[in-house]
Amino acid sequence: MAAITSLECSRCHQHVSADLPRTVCPHCAGSLYVRYDLEAVKHSAARPGPGGVRSMWRYSAVLPDVKPVTLGEGWTPLLRSQRHRNLYVKEEATNPTGAFKARGMSAAVSMAKHYGLEKLAAPSAGNAAGALAAYAAAAGIEAHIFMPKDVPFANYLEGMAYGAHVTLVDGLISDCGRMVAERKEAEGWFDVSTLKEPFRVEGKKTMGYELVEQMGWEYPDAVFYPTGGGVGLIGMWKAFEEMEALGWVKPGKRPKMIAVQASGCAPVAKAYREGADASKMFENAATFAAGLRVPKPYGDYLILEIARESSGTVIDVDDDAILASLLDWARHEGLLLCPEGAAATAAYDRLIETGFLAPSDRVVLFNTGAGLKYVDMIADAMKLKRPAQEKKYPERSPVGGIITPV
Ligand SMILES: Cc1ncc(COP(=O)(O)O)c(C=O)c1O
Ligand SMILES: [Zn+2]
Repeated sequence: MAAITSLECSRCHQHVSADLPRTVCPHCAGSLYVRYDLEAVKHSAARPGPGGVRSMWRYSAVLPDVKPVTLGEGWTPLLRSQRHRNLYVKEEATNPTGAFKARGMSAAVSMAKHYGLEKLAAPSAGNAAGALAAYAAAAGIEAHIFMPKDVPFANYLEGMAYGAHVTLVDGLISDCGRMVAERKEAEGWFDVSTLKEPFRVEGKKTMGYELVEQMGWEYPDAVFYPTGGGVGLIGMWKAFEEMEALGWVKPGKRPKMIAVQASGCAPVAKAYREGADASKMFENAATFAAGLRVPKPYGDYLILEIARESSGTVIDVDDDAILASLLDWARHEGLLLCPEGAAATAAYDRLIETGFLAPSDRVVLFNTGAGLKYVDMIADAMKLKRPAQEKKYPERSPVGGIITPV
């Protein structure tokens, strides 16, 4: 495993030490990147060969040198589309807690355990809360999660079942973030909000290592990533930079990075179109792709930078197109995508139509989570109702759970 040399600010590029737990840059509040001595890694570790650890920790050579809190996250399948020869889906549904958020939380909670932190808090669009609750339970750490009260029911259930302290908020993730910020000092919580601590990016960067390894250590032409806070996109770009420094990837052009948003909450797509360097708060955010309901991502400047530098783009697709693509992929590919993943498939169709990409381009789309986590929302969108039926099991008295009413 790699020793951390420092944490580098993504904005002002000053370095701080990782000896103590850190949130953001003490000078400018930019997000911090974990830096390793990659020259040393280059000499001491080869890129993984066939076999090896079948989780994201197969890349331990470029992950912090701590004991992992792991539930088997990562090393997810790269599936070739049945219909498009050059299109691949990175199927993140197979992660613990059914979403890619497991990767980031495995890394963040491993570090929290290493630092001896006892109480973690996070605002979440839903899946990060479920993942934090699970990894905190595995680590014996308290989790305090704040999420909109209309998150997919599965996310609420996860929080309760894993024994987290759950607060359902009448608002959006931005309101949840404010509540964590206001209370964390008095409560002694360490804030693991997206891009406000350095290690969730480290977990998510493994998606970049994996997709390149699974493509034979070659870059695809484009990567589609459903973007809320943007951690995965930012993490993958960091992975590409590291892989190049290590000589692990065949020399070639980096993929076009395509950030996909929902039209009902598209702050970064709007900023991209306007040529801005940062986004503005997206008012009245609403989409059934719950994970994309982030009205003002903290790392917006990084997402915009990466989309531009990679000659990619940031686009948005509306809920009708997302639902149509979700059903299209269920019926023709046998994959029940999450709405966020279906935003990526809808965006792929759009960019083929406009000629931004050609069918001959090798493309990886991220299905960031399991469609089954969204049973209530997909059923609602499909106007499906369960026929009335008798209960097949006896009523039970309620079991414990820690819920904080708002
Ligand atoms: C299924 C799913 N996809 C995509 C996202 C967006 O992820 P990120 O915040 O890394 O952009 C989320 C965030 O909650 C999510 O749950
Ligand atoms: Zn800074």
